[in-house]
Amino acid sequence: SDVPANPATPPCAELHLHIEGTLEPDLVFALAERNGIELPDRDIAGLRSRYAFTDLQSFLDLYYENMAVLRTPADFAEMTRAYLTRARAAGVRHAEIMFDPQAHLARGVPLATSVEGIASVLRASEAEFGISTGLIAAFLRDRPATEALEVLEDLLAMDAPIIGIGLDSAEVGNPPSGFTAVYDRARRAGLHLVAHAGEEGPPSYIADALDDLGVERIDHGIRCLDDPALVARLAAEQIPLTVCPLSNVRLRAVPSLVEHPLRRLLEAGVVVTINSDDPAYFGGYVDDNLHAVREVHKLTDDELAALAANSFRASFLDGDRRDALL
Ligand code: ADE
Ligand code: ZN
Repeated sequence: SDVPANPATPPCAELHLHIEGTLEPDLVFALAERNGIELPDRDIAGLRSRYAFTDLQSFLDLYYENMAVLRTPADFAEMTRAYLTRARAAGVRHAEIMFDPQAHLARGVPLATSVEGIASVLRASEAEFGISTGLIAAFLRDRPATEALEVLEDLLAMDAPIIGIGLDSAEVGNPPSGFTAVYDRARRAGLHLVAHAGEEGPPSYIADALDDLGVERIDHGIRCLDDPALVARLAAEQIPLTVCPLSNVRLRAVPSLVEHPLRRLLEAGVVVTINSDDPAYFGGYVDDNLHAVREVHKLTDDELAALAANSFRASFLDGDRRDALL
């Protein structure tokens, strides 16, 4: 039971994963049926035909639409359980999992429903799946920062089991600088800090996430390559990037996997980790991402092992569990 699906895929940590992005089409239909929700598509094939994305926004539209089937704590729990089951087969031993509380609040789902549904499964994950976990509340950068701050206060007041905060959704035109108060509050609460930056947005958003928000890791960050001085800084300061190759191709952040800058980042000395982002939407889980880059970029076993080691080092794990996995 300790053997991953493909023995050539080393055990790793997954650090960039949106739990709502693990909602597979069959689960969308099953939850819709259970909750009496009418879906726009007649069947799974119809839904799948809408997975041809042209940019981040075209994906986000469907990602938020499909969330409508998540109504009860049991729905969130079932989605989380399905991810952990698949992640275990992918060789994941530790997962830092984002969720979008505002996306659920905006459609009338209370904070306690999403938090408790997800957390109830995460609590048993290490014993049940051999995967230690941390939950990260991601705030939507295309909604007001005042709202994000209110939700953060509510999460703190309810003592939600979160280890950190993140920043996601539509990037261009929504720079990190608008969210300094949210990150200052999270820092005072002792939370870890991450943010999406440089996925579609300019390299300046990466620098601003570091300087204005004080993040410890950058989600995506691939556009740092447009600014050589920034690449040198990321390498010098050993700021991890949680890179998501299949996501980048599907959302056309890069033209193709061959042209993906993974190797250029590694050669520049940047701490790169490989992750799946929204695996139900982008054609694969973390093992699929690792297989794809290994084949296309001719990665050696040593290079794959280095990526896996980076994933544990870039994680927020500490203590005995960290020592055991490293
Ligand atoms: N929300 C879910 N996945 C995302 C991504 N790749 N970028 C921005 N926001 C997201
Ligand atoms: Zn993401």
